[in-house]
Amino acid sequence: MQDCYSAEAPGRIEFLGNHIDYNGGKVLGAAINGVVCALAKPRKDLTIRLFSESFENDVVETSLNDLSFRKGSEFWANYPLGVLWSLQEATLAPPSGFELILTTDLPLAAGLSSSAAVELATALALLQLNGNELGKSDLARLCRRAENQFVGLPCGILDQGVSAHGEKDHLVLIDCEKENFSTLPLPKDTCLWIFDTGIKHDLVDSLYATRHSECKQALELLKKKEPDLTCLAAASEGLLTSANLPEPLSKRALHVVKEKTRVDRAIELLKDDASRKEIGELLFASHDSSREQFENSCPELDFLVDDLRKCPSVLGARLTGGGFGGAVLAWTHHAFSQTDAKATATAFRKTFGKHPKVHRFEASRGARITTTLGEAGPPSL
Ligand code: GLA
Repeated sequence: MQDCYSAEAPGRIEFLGNHIDYNGGKVLGAAINGVVCALAKPRKDLTIRLFSESFENDVVETSLNDLSFRKGSEFWANYPLGVLWSLQEATLAPPSGFELILTTDLPLAAGLSSSAAVELATALALLQLNGNELGKSDLARLCRRAENQFVGLPCGILDQGVSAHGEKDHLVLIDCEKENFSTLPLPKDTCLWIFDTGIKHDLVDSLYATRHSECKQALELLKKKEPDLTCLAAASEGLLTSANLPEPLSKRALHVVKEKTRVDRAIELLKDDASRKEIGELLFASHDSSREQFENSCPELDFLVDDLRKCPSVLGARLTGGGFGGAVLAWTHHAFSQTDAKATATAFRKTFGKHPKVHRFEASRGARITTTLGEAGPPSL
């Protein structure tokens, strides 16, 4: 038997399709060249020991029979524990205990979905302990279940789906209603930059859940008028007008319905390399809608988008991910330089007193099993 098993999974950028995944439309994302690595070493007893390089002071120890929810400084362990729970539900869990080491070069809490990367890397490492395999789409679904039902965040399939299906120089396209996954080439000579505000409000998870529930309420009201409506993204603007939803449900629904149209248009345009400018405009329009209708932006994100909009080599910019803090994606021509990025970062510092963290990423391959360290094994915990 091999001594230890490893896997890696990338973070993701949400290219277009904000809060669309749990509303049944299509979304576009890119896996990036920042990954979480998981190394699993089987044990003979039922003990589980979890270690994350990002939370150095904590080794979380428990047993296969005790997957209780962790609070406070051990909260991070809910992601690998949730995956283990999900594997147990699917009768794919390892038969005995293990040690799991997580390392990463992904910035945390930057809206790049390091949590989904932790989930996928953990799942791929643990599956090997029992010689099990899962296809990419099932892997994404299993990890989403961990996040929805164990961690308790009602997210859609975007993060896990993109991390699983990523491909070099490609966008991942997810039809969230059918749960179909495919890829489209990212237009040549364009780059993906992230401007991370460093803002993470304590309330982010509850604000996300509030938006989720507002969208659900809007759908229920619309269904009274159109009983066959399957998801909020499928509603027409005409239906929204005639239904006269109360605020804020009307604004939330308008964001979803128009964002769905923007993604559909971007998918058409991505097949035509000449349309970058128009695709970029869709990104800006998405941000405007987040700011005004979905109200998941904040002054720092708005500032970055407004500043980037002035730069000729920026094709489009928008908040990426859940919002309420986190990061802005700037989709740029190759010509966009470190000097341009610095100018925006400096303007941000003058207004908010600190620099945003700036990263340039490549659209990269998705989660995969990696070669192990062999007999030597990982350091003992
Ligand atoms: C977070 C969630 C995703 C998605 C985005 C918003 O990243 O995890 O499922 O809903 O927000 O589009």
